[in-house]
Amino acid sequence: MLGIIPHTIDQYLKQEVALDTRQAILVRAGFPYGHTFRIDAEYDDKACCALVGAAAVEMGTTTESVFDSIAEFFIEWAEQNFSGFFQAAPDTRGFLLMQPDIHNSLACGLRSSAQRKVADKFRVVALPDGVRLQYRSSNRLSYFYCALARSLATRRGEIAEIIFVDGDHDSVASVIEVRLKPAQAV
Ligand code: HEM
Repeated sequence: MLGIIPHTIDQYLKQEVALDTRQAILVRAGFPYGHTFRIDAEYDDKACCALVGAAAVEMGTTTESVFDSIAEFFIEWAEQNFSGFFQAAPDTRGFLLMQPDIHNSLACGLRSSAQRKVADKFRVVALPDGVRLQYRSSNRLSYFYCALARSLATRRGEIAEIIFVDGDHDSVASVIEVRLKPAQAV
């Protein structure tokens, strides 16, 4: 996995938990004590996913709650560091339609097999009031997708209603519909 995700998770941990808890999370996830992450490096998928499970154990909460918090932290971080993408699509639907292309462009520096892996993860089609996403990844991170979509919508004064048309949070492959409404209409 591209370093942006583990690096952001680690930034979140630095902000949210004490140093010894952060170290315990890294070690529980299989990283050496004192490990740091580079944005421009590639990391093992399983170890990156284990970070969230380890954070939930050490923080005494659920993985869903950790994903929700990381999603909020990530969107705020991405708005500052990738502002061009957000300016290009000021509403949530527009951003979600661009999201696979954003991931593909970030994967350009990877080996071709790793690039293909990123490209295969997301396929999106437009719905009149949202998007339908086909997600396929052995990382089973569809919950993270939903958390990011909800967080993006909240920051734009919208509400994202999410339905799994196929699969669920634990599936390798799923079809997810995100329908958007202005927050005041709900
Ligand atoms: C400018 C904003 C964003 C940036 C820079 C970004 C960047 C990335 C990067 C670098 C990865 C790792 C890709 C890999 O190595 O496989 C990733 C993974 C992911 N992103 Fe984003 N992302 C952004 C917005 C979003 C949004 C808005 C969503 C969902 C609504 C999203 C959903 C995901 C998911 C679900 C994964 C994990 C995929 C998997 O491994 O199965 N991202 N993102």
